[in-house]
Amino acid sequence: MEIRRYKIPVAGLFLLCLITVVSRVQAGGYSASLEAARLVAEGKITVENNVSAPINNSRLGIPYRTGYHFQPKGYWMNDPNGPVYYKGYYHLFYQYNPFAAIPGTIEWHHAVSKDMIHWQYLGATLRRDQWYDANGVWSGSITFLDDGVPVILYTGNSVDNKQYQARADPADPSDPLLRNWIKASYNPIAETPPGYNTSQFRDPTEAWRLSDGVWRMLVGANYGDGGLIGTALLFKSTDFVTWNYSHRLHENPTTGMWECPDFFPVRVKGKKGLEPSAVGPHVLHVLKVSLDLNKHDYYSVGKYLLETDTYAPLNPAIDTGIGLRYDYGKYYASKTFFDHKTQRRILYGWTNESTSTMDDVAKGWAGLQSIPRVVWLDKRTSTNILQWPIKEVQKLRHGKITVKNVNLKAGEVARLMDVSGVQLDIEVAFKIPDVKQGATPPELLAESGPSVCSQKGASVKGMYGPFGLLVLATDDLKEQTAVYFYFVYSKKDGWKTLVCSDQSRSTVSTNLMVDKTTYGSYVRLYEDDKFLKLRLLVDHSVVETFAQGGRTVITSRVYPQDAQGKNAHVFLFNNGTEPVTVDTVEAWNMGAVKFVDYKH
Ligand SMILES: *[C@@H]1O[C@H](CO)[C@@H](O)[C@H](O)[C@H]1NC(C)=O
Ligand SMILES: *[C@@H]1O[C@H](CO)[C@@H](O)[C@H](O)[C@H]1NC(C)=O
Ligand SMILES: *[C@@H]1O[C@H](CO)[C@@H](O)[C@H](O)[C@H]1NC(C)=O
Ligand SMILES: *[C@@H]1O[C@H](CO)[C@@H](O)[C@H](O)[C@H]1NC(C)=O
Ligand SMILES: *[C@@H]1O[C@H](CO)[C@@H](O)[C@H](O)[C@H]1NC(C)=O
Ligand SMILES: *[C@@H]1O[C@H](CO)[C@@H](O)[C@H](O)[C@H]1NC(C)=O
Repeated sequence: MEIRRYKIPVAGLFLLCLITVVSRVQAGGYSASLEAARLVAEGKITVENNVSAPINNSRLGIPYRTGYHFQPKGYWMNDPNGPVYYKGYYHLFYQYNPFAAIPGTIEWHHAVSKDMIHWQYLGATLRRDQWYDANGVWSGSITFLDDGVPVILYTGNSVDNKQYQARADPADPSDPLLRNWIKASYNPIAETPPGYNTSQFRDPTEAWRLSDGVWRMLVGANYGDGGLIGTALLFKSTDFVTWNYSHRLHENPTTGMWECPDFFPVRVKGKKGLEPSAVGPHVLHVLKVSLDLNKHDYYSVGKYLLETDTYAPLNPAIDTGIGLRYDYGKYYASKTFFDHKTQRRILYGWTNESTSTMDDVAKGWAGLQSIPRVVWLDKRTSTNILQWPIKEVQKLRHGKITVKNVNLKAGEVARLMDVSGVQLDIEVAFKIPDVKQGATPPELLAESGPSVCSQKGASVKGMYGPFGLLVLATDDLKEQTAVYFYFVYSKKDGWKTLVCSDQSRSTVSTNLMVDKTTYGSYVRLYEDDKFLKLRLLVDHSVVETFAQGGRTVITSRVYPQDAQGKNAHVFLFNNGTEPVTVDTVEAWNMGAVKFVDYKH
């Protein structure tokens, strides 16, 4: 394995800074729907009206379609819905607009897989054909009833934009592919309780049961002045048909509407998952919500208090909505399920585009699902979870490259000569610098926190950091996506470590309007940590970063123009003023997934 070192010439550096054009787009969620509706009304977007018409993925979109992430053949996808394992198959349902690459006429579509990597598309599951869901078959979940038969709970958005919870059952539970579903004749099963906003009442969770034999589910809502109090409403049922509103499981006064709540048990010890109704001394609970206000997924770990049927975070300072996030990049509306085949709790999340609505339409598609992640409690803290890509994705690895012991001097960039391409899995371990109190530029003090990542990108030198990887990079580094560590020092807290993903130079394209925000957060280090570790899953237009074994995760969307095929290189870099040592790099090319056709 060869590496090639060079210092970036100073003139080149200057140029690189000048060409960094940061253009932002506003998309996603409500604002994206409004913008899309306006563009349709103005005749700027044509919407297909024939559901059988072939999907047109334009040449613009092709280089950015992923090789091994879940993506429909075209048009718009958002939230993952009702993931389950049933009769030998993993099922994934998803929010889908079958008529255009914009949010709008959303319904449930469905795909099945034996490994959550290779998929068969099964098309529409639930269409907009009832008064209570004519304006959208929105997100929901699947629960297994006593006989092991799965039942869908979802939100219908009615003709007058009121939200209702509804139920659907498999037409033939013996069909392992669960191709056909029937909406219950007695729908809707739950209406907005008095005092809550009828158009802010959505996304039922998987239901669970306590020893009283009563089913419980949560529905996201908000209330109070300006709707600022975000909450999860608890409903109860004895027969899964009649659901009564009971009370609020939990709330936060400053977070606004809680979308897609997810409430699940985790083991105090060990990586194995738990079925949704598990309670007891060996169990803690995770409460995750998706904040409509800022489009991020927040969670906390806490206790499910059975006497009051409420939730209390272990550390109120990092309560749900104000503390930890699953992912510090683009990741929203996530949902877990218990995979009883392998005893894992697995997390899916939606990663939207960083391109504009018009560009999405020109690409012919928008949205993908991140690689499913196993989640478990971090037993060191009990207040955070760890996340790691499912091991099935490793079946796609081939052509392993290993590099050991590379010293990177200040300002050095070293290309990994045998690694290139747009489908990669890379693991790198740096020796932890022996940080001492030292001269840190004032703007890099820890007080400015993770915003150091977004304010300064990878180009601001500290003592230790930025150092890390450049992926999807051209030889001249004009295009590059930097993923790196950064040490910041504060008198109050001492040294802290950041992990960041810098999109500011990820494309030189002037055809696309791209959101180039740099993302980042702290990553915790412990006394016995020997290395600073990164794992990157690179796939055309998505880079998923797992730092320190999944303590901090960042998903980025990037649209390189020149860093394509063999021109997409990987570099190690150190832009700090002190040297760093790379202990090991392991890198693989990743195969592309094949579409499958399961016969039943
Ligand atoms: C989608 O992407 C846009 C542009 O980067 C961003 O503003 C928005 O918050 C994102 N929405 C979600 C749901 O992630
Ligand atoms: C819809 O598209 C299909 C496939 O192209 C075509 O066969 C069919 O005639 C179209 N239907 C209408 C009403 O245009
Ligand atoms: C209810 O929610 C909608 C947003 O979905 C908002 O436009 C409306 O103002 C809210 N109504 C009240 C009474 O707060
Ligand atoms: C729901 O309310 C009805 C009517 O008050 C009552 O008969 C039923 O027992 C309630 N069910 C539950 C699970 O609380
Ligand atoms: C496919 O989409 C491209 C870009 O939007 C458009 O120029 C082209 O006419 C479309 N082709 C068909 C067959 O609709
Ligand atoms: C390293 O720092 C220089 C500015 O000193 C900057 O131009 C260059 O892009 C940085 N490298 C990376 C990978 O950000």
